[in-house]
Amino acid sequence: MTDTSTDSIDLSAIRVALIGAGNMGGPVGRTMLDAGVRPENLRIANSIPTSSERAAEELGATAAASRAEAIEGADVVVLGVKPYQILDLVAELRDDLPDGAVVLSLAAGTTLAQIQDALPSDAAVARAMPNTPISVGEGAVGLMRGDAVSDEQHALLHALFSSAGVAVDITEEQVHAFIGTAGSMPAFVFTIIEAMTDEAVRLGLKRDLAASLVQQTVRGAATMLTESGTHPAVAKNAVSSPGGTTVQGLAALEREGVRAGVAAAMAAAADSSRAMSRG
Ligand SMILES: NC(=O)c1ccc[n+]([C@@H]2O[C@H](COP(=O)([O-])OP(=O)(O)OC[C@H]3O[C@@H](n4cnc5c(N)ncnc54)[C@H](OP(=O)(O)O)[C@@H]3O)[C@@H](O)[C@H]2O)c1
Repeated sequence: MTDTSTDSIDLSAIRVALIGAGNMGGPVGRTMLDAGVRPENLRIANSIPTSSERAAEELGATAAASRAEAIEGADVVVLGVKPYQILDLVAELRDDLPDGAVVLSLAAGTTLAQIQDALPSDAAVARAMPNTPISVGEGAVGLMRGDAVSDEQHALLHALFSSAGVAVDITEEQVHAFIGTAGSMPAFVFTIIEAMTDEAVRLGLKRDLAASLVQQTVRGAATMLTESGTHPAVAKNAVSSPGGTTVQGLAALEREGVRAGVAAAMAAAADSSRAMSRG
């Protein structure tokens, strides 16, 4: 996985068509606006015009009257529809795609080759696998680059995700690991945070105090590792006094199988992604 510098790319004249601004397409559109795409240059087409207008208003972007209007003159065409819809949508858009546009699919389980097969052979196709924390600029995006994507288009895609958190290049084989590690991970972390908050309440703290302490501690622990570069085992051992409270808690955590549970959740998500890709 590699990161790409996007410092010098001016997005103010870049035109983006967002076809399908739902739970994932919406945050992707917002992150592109945050990166510097102008609201008048981000055109949204959902299934019907009223839905496009609602999504455009929510995002502070522009509703297109139709899918064909949205993609007219676009540099990047983002496909945010459900995986089962994507190949029909690509077939519908095929003849209207502007020269030089990159088609960027957000769909899980539909490969670059499947999309490429529905388009002219020289069409530039890429995939992005984002997670929902991109909506607060703290997400992760895995970018998969098709053979016809030029270096300039590839740099443009990175620039469009420059406000998302991190955007890394991955292969289509790595996307399954990426889903276990980042795509599905927010839900696992939400569940762990919920469990910690519930237990803090049982131990006697008010729920709002419990929630803020847990969230601050999870955020702080992650930031500490990122900023110091310390290995998690070293950071953990540094707060484990002999016979103290933390080692007692850690021993209980290991006896309850926390590692096995986390590994099983990540492996199940990755396996499920692999099965979806096989159809
Ligand atoms: N949710 C996630 O965490 C996540 C993460 C990574 C990738 N993804 C991928 O993101 C994609 C979208 O998932 P989602 O959860 O965002 O689904 P969603 O909330 O149902 O959004 C789908 C969007 O597609 C629009 N749409 C449906 N048919 C359309 C058509 N014919 N033309 C134009 N727009 C159309 C819908 O508009 P209406 O509201 O008007 O029907 C809606 O805005 C999927 O391919 C999924 O694999 C999702």
